[in-house]
Amino acid sequence: MPLEVAAHAGFCMGVKRAVEAAEKVAQSGKPACTLGELIHNPQVVEELASQGVPPVRSPEEAAGRMVLIRSHGVPPETLEALRTLGCEVADLTCPFVEKLHRIVAEGSSDGTPVILVGERDHPEVRGTAGWAHSQVYTVTSPEEAEALPVMDHAIAAAQTTFPPDRWEAVIAMLEKKVRRLEKHCTICSATETRQREAKELAERADAMIVVGGRNSANTQKLYAACKARCPRTILVERAADIPS
Ligand code: F3S
Repeated sequence: MPLEVAAHAGFCMGVKRAVEAAEKVAQSGKPACTLGELIHNPQVVEELASQGVPPVRSPEEAAGRMVLIRSHGVPPETLEALRTLGCEVADLTCPFVEKLHRIVAEGSSDGTPVILVGERDHPEVRGTAGWAHSQVYTVTSPEEAEALPVMDHAIAAAQTTFPPDRWEAVIAMLEKKVRRLEKHCTICSATETRQREAKELAERADAMIVVGGRNSANTQKLYAACKARCPRTILVERAADIPS
């Protein structure tokens, strides 16, 4: 049976940049760690740990080492805490996430409330909320947007991996709640491209293999989209898991 690999399979720009930088740090032999798992891919995380760059859960655990910030980004207090603990910081926040931080920080500097459209507990959303200088609301659906108070002016921005159709639905509701709504669609096209390609492949394939971390929301979304179109879809974390 011929095997077709999706044209955009593999890491997106932000993740590729972080992994390459981490590999360079590992080769340098500097005492280093990543704040949280660098990416949702157990093979890469194990490989880096075996080369002396393990993940740590808190700034305190990282004390004295070089700390790599993953592409999701962190709030400014975390960067400050790391520097206070004497850590050298390699900030590998994805440039698209940095842009989101800038929009939130600058837009809220005069007290304008921020509405983040995304998953409340996602590290990128939690990190972004930390850059705001005003009240932050997080909503993930039109129903949650409807429950917000009526506002005169607010800024809305999206988690970079938020589905575009849900963003549109949430914005349609926000326009009824906020008189002057500044919309910043900060969704990154990498996720959408991979979703579109995977769906197109799943519609004509006899079987699909989705390779990715089980704890990655993006992998789970790809798996669900493929399974709905191709019942013989499996999810594996590494090549060795592919049944023969
Ligand atoms: Fe990747 Fe950055 Fe987009 S981490 S999904 S390129 S926002």
